Amino acid sequence: MIKLVMATNNANKLREASEILSPLGIEVISQRQAGADCDPEENGASFAENAMIKARAVHEAVGLPVIADDSGLCVDALNGEPGVYSARYAPDNEKCPTILKKLENVPDEERGAHFVCSIAYIDGNGKEKVVEGRCSGVIAHEEKGSGGFGYDPIFKYGDKTLAEMTPEEKNKISHRGSALRALYELLSSEEG
Ligand code: IMP
Repeated sequence: MIKLVMATNNANKLREASEILSPLGIEVISQRQAGADCDPEENGASFAENAMIKARAVHEAVGLPVIADDSGLCVDALNGEPGVYSARYAPDNEKCPTILKKLENVPDEERGAHFVCSIAYIDGNGKEKVVEGRCSGVIAHEEKGSGGFGYDPIFKYGDKTLAEMTPEEKNKISHRGSALRALYELLSSEEG
């Protein structure tokens, strides 16, 4: 079994990655399990840069193949904000209200938004690659649903918000699900 270190200690991220990569004979372990204690400053200008910053820090510490992800919400009417600042934009219970307030007078046709997830991969020889997944939708007028996290209750895909979907429904269409499937393709391709 090949071992891949994920630059996170988040159990949900590990589980999602394991579900997709274990059929390839790849075991995903956390940075802590690999003996790395890294928390680099995520000061990149893009999701891809931030993912690579995290991946390099763990790769330098453990010398094994590494993956790292970075994600966030980009709102058209806010010129792409909160973008790479999604996690720091507001405290967790204020994230959705902050966006709704800023979009108070924005009509339906201008409420487009998308989530992005970049996954950086560094192989055992230090070769670097990045894959990306996107999920496009619109910002609702109010919060709906109790599932998910972060901006899910205000992000509408079709006739539901992501917070109204089951985890399986969300994984099928989410930016993170798409990025993980792109990583699967990369690792299973000959040049991966
Ligand atoms: P990180 O990639 O774990 O740093 O996440 C960045 C931030 O983007 C999170 O704290 C959430 O606020 C937001 N975010 C990322 N993915 C999602 C998602 O699937 N649903 C809702 N919010 C998300």
